Amino acid sequence: MRCRVGRAGFAISLVAVAVVFTLAARGQMQQPARPGKNAAPWWQHAIVYEVYPRSFQDTTGSGIGDINGIIERLGYLQDLGVNAIWLTPIYPSPQKDFGYDISNYEAIDPMFGTMADFDHLLAAAKAHHIRVIMDMVMAHTSDQSPWFKESRSSRTNPKRDWYIWRDGKGPGIPPNNWESDFGGSAWTFDPITKQWYYHKFLAAQPSLNWRNPAVEKAMFDVCRFWLNKGVAGFRLDAVPELFVDPKFRDEQVLPGLNVYGDPNLNQDRTENLPEVHVVMRALRKLVDSYPGHRVLIGETYLPNIQDQLAWYGGARHDELQLPMDMQVGFINKLDAAAFREKINQAETQLDGYMPLFVFDNHDNPRSWNRYGDGKHDAAIARIIATILLTTRSADLMYYGQEIGMVTTPPKTLAQVRDPAGIRGWPKYKGRDGERTPMQWNSGKDAGFSTAATTWLPIPASYKEVNVQVESANPDSLLNWYKHLISMRREIPALYRGRNIMVDTSDPDVLSYLRQEPGQASAVLVAMNFTQQAHTVAYQLQKEGITSSVATALLEDQGMSKTVDLHHVTLPPFAVFIGKVQ
Ligand code: GLC
Repeated sequence: MRCRVGRAGFAISLVAVAVVFTLAARGQMQQPARPGKNAAPWWQHAIVYEVYPRSFQDTTGSGIGDINGIIERLGYLQDLGVNAIWLTPIYPSPQKDFGYDISNYEAIDPMFGTMADFDHLLAAAKAHHIRVIMDMVMAHTSDQSPWFKESRSSRTNPKRDWYIWRDGKGPGIPPNNWESDFGGSAWTFDPITKQWYYHKFLAAQPSLNWRNPAVEKAMFDVCRFWLNKGVAGFRLDAVPELFVDPKFRDEQVLPGLNVYGDPNLNQDRTENLPEVHVVMRALRKLVDSYPGHRVLIGETYLPNIQDQLAWYGGARHDELQLPMDMQVGFINKLDAAAFREKINQAETQLDGYMPLFVFDNHDNPRSWNRYGDGKHDAAIARIIATILLTTRSADLMYYGQEIGMVTTPPKTLAQVRDPAGIRGWPKYKGRDGERTPMQWNSGKDAGFSTAATTWLPIPASYKEVNVQVESANPDSLLNWYKHLISMRREIPALYRGRNIMVDTSDPDVLSYLRQEPGQASAVLVAMNFTQQAHTVAYQLQKEGITSSVATALLEDQGMSKTVDLHHVTLPPFAVFIGKVQ
């Protein structure tokens, strides 16, 4: 399964939904779970916020965000309650794939600022108790990288074998049928040396040859460079794609065509080869040699929980601390049974390791549109936030998710910036829609910039959907997120309790308890996934809950503060979070 591209065509609607929720019983919350000396490493409970620097805050009037803009907004991020920011690539790059084509791994692209600005960001973030995680693109470089320039210069160049070069099957015929994730063949013929080079993505992103130890050494040196600066770890881009079949055999052709009109392939010879785990173990050793619990987060779109476990290093747990779990967040429909199954798998089949849940990122239409029904979108967005922040998990958030930014795809081919969208148009409009500028206020350029035109247009929603307006509205999605984040920090059961599914045959309402082992009390989370009201009769004795009432900690749509557990009526798409004992 691959979610990176191909999710086009979600209807966008902005329907104002009356929202009423209250954070109740604040006084009844238990003592904050403050991390002590022997506390779990910070990443286990982290909320990592993905910043797409181009779109976060522009301080120069260029219409493109920059590092100083991120510094300006650290107060907002601290107030929101995030523990770390992951920056998508800010290294020098021709920007063919918006930074995922790196030409120099140890510098900053002038578009975003200078290395001094970056050092300032690290220090300022620290002062705000926020860690900085870098995106690390190890699978490929830009074709403008000096490594590739050398490699392509002659067949005998010492760096020739840093990339994957092959003869074609005949004149104009590539070495095999492998396809680029951005459409067309994964091979490009280079007239200089009359061989083909492999690229899993754009031709401007040649894939590195990880079978050459020199590549690992060079890339690990890059990691050391940033770890020495004090970054908290890496988000490993496209990391299942590090190795390809050494025999270069064709991939099996599957029925149907993809969004680019190419035949679907079973991508088992270009993805997730077992060799990648050897590199992950070595990389984990490297980051573990630094103090401060540096973290490895993987961009791991995987088909099942067994593969997920493998990325932790299985029982040895010597690979990634947090391979992303895309299985919960990308179910893409409000199906209570599917969420129950996937959340429960992460709870029971990962050897106790922490899953990293994610609903939104810069490669997929926003969850607002993937889950919304066009009528109850705001209520559904509160459900998504609740699943993300009340399950036992570390969490990834994407800028703008907390205010309900909508996917705003380009209207014409001429407007498309994403190369994948240019190739896939009109079937696939690319990823611009989820990368539009952050909506800070109702003023010019939504407070993002002062430029006459911004690199992507400001979505029409910005007058109502923005940080300033939502901060002032106690019933906004932003305040819902803030409540959830602070509850998660303050209530030990939500912070570290087990996740126990209850009322498990209910097709419409998803319910679970969060409970610390040996504790009589627990937190009940209940969400109605449908547009009809539903009444649930909970039987929680097995979980040691003897009282028949729940006291609301957070609820919406006018639900009462105290509910009878034998008769809990949830309005359409309502959320109830309550203390039970
Ligand atoms: C990852 C990134 C995506 C990029 C691709 C190629 O999937 O998230 O944005 O286009 O890798 O580097």
